[in-house]
Amino acid sequence: MELGISTFTCLKFAVYVDNDYHLDSLGLVQLPLKKPKPKQIASNIRVVIDLSFDSLMTDMEITSVSSQLTRCYAANRSTSRPVNLFFTSYGQRIQNRFDTKIQSHINWKDVIFDTKSYLERFDKNDLVYLTADATDVIDELNENKVYIIGGIVDKNRHKNLCYDKAKEENIATAQLPIENCIKLTTRKVLAINHVFEILVRWLECKDWQKAFLEVIPQRKFNDEGKKKRRIRKNAGTIDLKDDIPDTVQDGLAKEYEPSEQM
Ligand SMILES: C[S@@+](CC[C@H](N)C(=O)[O-])C[C@H]1O[C@@H](n2cnc3c(N)ncnc32)[C@H](O)[C@@H]1O
Repeated sequence: MELGISTFTCLKFAVYVDNDYHLDSLGLVQLPLKKPKPKQIASNIRVVIDLSFDSLMTDMEITSVSSQLTRCYAANRSTSRPVNLFFTSYGQRIQNRFDTKIQSHINWKDVIFDTKSYLERFDKNDLVYLTADATDVIDELNENKVYIIGGIVDKNRHKNLCYDKAKEENIATAQLPIENCIKLTTRKVLAINHVFEILVRWLECKDWQKAFLEVIPQRKFNDEGKKKRRIRKNAGTIDLKDDIPDTVQDGLAKEYEPSEQM
């Protein structure tokens, strides 16, 4: 039966709709409309991403960490309450990845790439290492504190890694108040960029539950989401919520290149 529209067109349509693209009346693909940048009022909150775990990751994981750092930067550029962002212990393969694949980072503003560790930059008493393994639960973000996110992708191979590191360094630890607000069907260890996005979202709305629901991927809430992800993985497609392909990565970074206003 002739339906007048090919399966290919339908598929293409589905893919573009899924990725925020749409077709115009002539069937041409339209790029997503650029969201207007919100008026930004800087917060005094300091967030560190600790990149001292280079030697514990595979090359693929280094790529993934770099993607997630790009996402953090992008989130900080598009929030109305940006934080002071630091990438500490920057070097080795992550630096190489930025130098070769995310070259536009040299124009990034409002983020400090620091080869030194956070211990050399901040007062130890102000540091709070965020980790899902902490017993203390964070209640609100405090401008006098510096919040550290572990810059590692390890599929939880290295259990208690950041918690043990913080304890050894005599630094306070805290976990996000996930259990008080939502029910997850998976473990509560989140990706670097999700933790970062939750922090900046909380600064905007001061509501943890809202921040979790908006940032945490659907698959963590229900088995249906997990199943869908498995099917996508088996089909060889990339889950954009998790990672960003190289070609898109530098584009995304460029999109968030600082304008002169900031
Ligand atoms: C992929 S996790 C790293 C897991 C690693 N095995 C560890 O020991 O933390 C990346 C980082 O996100 C932060 N993180 C993830 N889930 C968190 C949670 N529920 N509460 C607080 N921080 C969290 C931590 O800073 C963690 O180091």
